[in-house]
Amino acid sequence: MVNFGSLLEPYQKRVNQALNILLPKEGYSRLSDAMRYSVLNSGKRLRPILVYMASELGEEENKEGADDLACAVELIHCYSLIHDDLPSMDNDQLRRGKPTCHLAFGEATAILAGDALQPLAYSLISDCSTISSNLKIEVLKRLSFACGWNAMVEGQMKDITTKEDFNLSELDLMHNQKTGELIKTSLEIGGLVAGLDLEKLSKLSIYGENIGLAFQITDDIIDIESPSEISGKDQGSDSLHNKTTYPALIGMEASKKRAKQLAEKAEQNLNVFSTKSTKLKKLAQFIIQRDH
Ligand code: IPE
Ligand code: IPE
Ligand code: MG
Ligand code: MG
Ligand code: MG
Repeated sequence: MVNFGSLLEPYQKRVNQALNILLPKEGYSRLSDAMRYSVLNSGKRLRPILVYMASELGEEENKEGADDLACAVELIHCYSLIHDDLPSMDNDQLRRGKPTCHLAFGEATAILAGDALQPLAYSLISDCSTISSNLKIEVLKRLSFACGWNAMVEGQMKDITTKEDFNLSELDLMHNQKTGELIKTSLEIGGLVAGLDLEKLSKLSIYGENIGLAFQITDDIIDIESPSEISGKDQGSDSLHNKTTYPALIGMEASKKRAKQLAEKAEQNLNVFSTKSTKLKKLAQFIIQRDH
C-alpha cells in the first residue's frame, strides 16, 4: 500500500488534540472514562479529516469552526461504534486494537457512553462561537439526518435483519444509510463552513456518496482479508454472523473492482476545485487501498 501517513497524520494530530480537550477529564466518572476510552485511541479519524479537507476548499478558512465540526462527527461515529459492537448487535471483542467498550466497562456503561457522546456532539456545534446561527442550524439539520432513523440507524437496522435474498441495490442502500450518509455529511458541513456555493457543495456531495459506498465495501473486504493485528477488529466477524456484505454477494474481485470504480467517479467530481482538491483525491485512494 502507498504510504498515506503524510496526508493523514497532521489532521489526525489536530483532531486528537481537540478531542482530548473537550472530553471530561480522566477519572471524573465511570461514564466519562468509558467515553474517553472509546474516543481517545487509534481511530483513523476519516470523518474529521473529511470535514477539514472540505473546509479548506473555500476562499477563507474557519479553523476553530472546522475543529468543532470535526470533533462532532467523530463523537457521533464513536458512539455508533460502541453500539455497533454490543452483544445485541455485532457482538465483537476488539475495536481499534483494544477490547470493545462493553468488554472493558460492561454493557450498561457502554450503552450509556454511546448515549452520552451523541448529545455532546450536538452541543459542540450549538456552542461554537465562530459559526453563524443560520449555519449552525443547517449543520445540525444535516448531521441529525445523517445519523437518524432514515440513515445511519436504519442502515444498522437493515444490517441486523438482512434476508437471504438481499439484492445488490438493497445492499447499496443499506451501506449508504449505515455508513455513506455520515461520510457525505462530514464533507458537506466542512464545505458549508468554507462558504462553498451550491454547485460546489453538490459536487462535494457526489464525491461523498461515491467514497461513502467505496468505504463500506472496503470495510467488508478488510473483515475478510486483514488480520486483527492490522485492522484492530475481529477478523471474520461478518461471515460468522452471516452478514450480507459485498464480497458475500458478488465476490472479492468484483467488490474490489466496484470500490475502484466508485473512487474514480468520486475523484472526477472534484475537478471543479482544480488543485485545491488534490488531498481529497488522494484520500479517495486511501479509502480503497487501506488495510485497516
Ligand atoms: C468503521 O469505521 C465502521 C464503519 C462505518 C465501517 P472506520 O473504519 O472509520 O473506523 P475507525 O474510526 O478508523 O476506528
Ligand atoms: C458499522 O458497520 C456501521 C456503523 C457503526 C454505523 P460495521 O459493523 O461493518 O463496522 P465494523 O466492521 O464493525 O467496524
Ligand atoms: Mg455492524
Ligand atoms: Mg461491526
Ligand atoms: Mg465491517
